[in-house]
Amino acid sequence: MKGKTIILGITGGIAAYKGAALCSKLVQAGFDVHVIMTENACQFITPLTLQTLSRNLVYTDTFDERDPAVVSHIDLADRADLILVAPATANTIAKMANGLADDMLSTTLLAATCPIVVAPAMNVHMYSHPAVIRNIQLLAERNVRFIAPETGQLACGYVAKGRLAEPESIVASISDMLREGASKPLLGKKVLITAGGTVERLDPVRYLTNDSSGKMGFALAAIARDYGAEVTLVMGRTSERPPDGVSLVRVESAQDMLKAVLVRYPQSDMVIKSAAVADYRPVMRADKKMKKSGDRLVLELEKTTDILQTLGEQKTKQYLVGFAAETEELDRYAMDKLQRKQCDLIVGNDVSQEGAGFNSDTNIIRIYDKDGIVESLPLLSKLETARRIIALAAERMANREAGKAGR
Ligand code: CTP
Repeated sequence: MKGKTIILGITGGIAAYKGAALCSKLVQAGFDVHVIMTENACQFITPLTLQTLSRNLVYTDTFDERDPAVVSHIDLADRADLILVAPATANTIAKMANGLADDMLSTTLLAATCPIVVAPAMNVHMYSHPAVIRNIQLLAERNVRFIAPETGQLACGYVAKGRLAEPESIVASISDMLREGASKPLLGKKVLITAGGTVERLDPVRYLTNDSSGKMGFALAAIARDYGAEVTLVMGRTSERPPDGVSLVRVESAQDMLKAVLVRYPQSDMVIKSAAVADYRPVMRADKKMKKSGDRLVLELEKTTDILQTLGEQKTKQYLVGFAAETEELDRYAMDKLQRKQCDLIVGNDVSQEGAGFNSDTNIIRIYDKDGIVESLPLLSKLETARRIIALAAERMANREAGKAGR
């Protein structure tokens, strides 16, 4: 990242102290880092710390003009290849959404034409407040990228979503975003990703579904997008916000997902099937709400079509990546699925392990090809896990296209 200029905006939340680690990692990655701190950020960490780590002057006041040859906030905005606001408080996000410019950071953000990345950190109730959700949506529509906070111990005592993403993860994300066009490994490629759980209706108000949150599929979509791909995300039921910059197709049942995927399959270069698809659906679906009757109710279920297997059978050029969520004998079941569904890679995870479950922010995976385990990864954030999966799949696909052996 030599020669790239980053403005790191640090705002006034307790996670401001992590700004120091973030700044240090950005410098280590080769960025020329210029820090702007809000007045409130200076309550948590001193400008001197950031000056020492960034080896550049730290800006805190719009009117503290130190070079008569330039107007600082315009000069900084013009020089930046990217502005990263981390941690971003609800207040700063609101100011950005409304175009306020009442301090050095907000003024510089308004003057910037480069990509802007925001890593929020706040209390879980603040993060889920409708005003904050609306402000994030508004900014996402203006192409501001968000690095979602993680779940963990918050300073206020809650164990919940709102903790600043890990500095390593933030640095890796923005490095991916700033890769030059030629080195974006998936530039010009169409990547189709499925995420979330399917919904099989019993009647208009009741359904069968599963615990999938969609987090893994969303992380894969965000990384594939940063690698330059044109991403289509076919999503079932999820509780999460999908990433921006990808085409969204919302589906409900396994049958809907099958149709949505098949129609896009011929033109896709890579397909990643991270959705948790129902294996069975009710044989009968009532048009009206079912009334209670008798002490027992027997539901008859029928098998759904296996989407991944269908894709495997119809494969022409596509690079196919499947998932296998198991609670026992991971290697055996994952390899069996890889062969049965004709995948190029399969990502196996033992969902009974702590930190690898359906709803967590982390995962522990093993990646297999036809010869066995290719990579066995430790506990990582889903974003980092996604990066490893996409990097491997992109490399393998490129090798195959170049006519080389797959490994
Ligand atoms: N899958 C699919 N269509 C289905 C069922 C599963 O495309 N009807 C895909 C999933 O998206 C995943 C892979 O197949 O990529 C493995 O899913 P999993 O539920 O682990 O496997 P199953 O084949 O359903 O086998 P089992 O439930 O017996 O473990």
